Amino acid sequence: MMETSGLRPVVRVVPGQAASDGAGVQLTRVIGSSALSELDPFLLLDEFGSADPKAYIAGFPDHPHRGFETVTYMLAGRMRHRDNHGNQGDLGPGSVQWMTAGRGIVHSEMPLQEDGLMRGFQLWVNLPARDKMTAPRYQDIPADAIPELARGGARIRVIAGRTTEGTVGPVAGVATEPLYLDVALAPGAEFAEAVPAGHNAFAYVYEGGAAIAGKDVAAHQLAVLGPGTRFAATAAADGARLILVAGRPLGETVARYGPFVMNTRAELEQAFADYQAKKF
Ligand code: FE2
Repeated sequence: MMETSGLRPVVRVVPGQAASDGAGVQLTRVIGSSALSELDPFLLLDEFGSADPKAYIAGFPDHPHRGFETVTYMLAGRMRHRDNHGNQGDLGPGSVQWMTAGRGIVHSEMPLQEDGLMRGFQLWVNLPARDKMTAPRYQDIPADAIPELARGGARIRVIAGRTTEGTVGPVAGVATEPLYLDVALAPGAEFAEAVPAGHNAFAYVYEGGAAIAGKDVAAHQLAVLGPGTRFAATAAADGARLILVAGRPLGETVARYGPFVMNTRAELEQAFADYQAKKF
């Protein structure tokens, strides 16, 4: 029996929507779509996954960001990241790049492969007003620096935050104090984890299916979690893979257009002007 006190209910199930971004990369947009425009502090969640190079080969050529963080988590495949400040890094299977764009970067994210499977997620995390113009910062985390736990029928990769056992993920110093776990569940396995009470939280099932707080959630569906202190899921007969993500909501106004996310329209206009004046 699972303990139910403090259990976060599923308040909404949101299906991912087929979309295209960059130079024509095919993806599933889960947050940042017409169905779910944001879940404070999360602005966007894309799942990309294809063994067909036509779906990913064009990549994401040079584009700007200001005012938030982009988090790329690779499940399979390789991408090369380059920015206009001279930073470059390769993202391989199981690695994470937590990029704080701050006052601005222009970068590209391009495939380092011509065929084979490319799979992963990009999450956008908002920055509080006081940090929007901070210096850009990268946390490039190789796969072997991400702790992996076995707990019953669950295998848990701890990207950010702290688990019940006290395992702490390598991502540090993020304003919204995120929890980001990648969880693989054997068929029928149960999994429970503490989620900070004041955080907004979601679970996105990307393979198989799971009953989350008793509600069936299928692959490529996101469960928005209600208030509480605990997350609980039971995998379906074919098992489940999901990400469990939580963050402290900012409660600030959002002025957003494409790759710029600020607090006011005037700041958005300034972002455009600065980008056009090559001040990023
Ligand atoms: Fe980007």
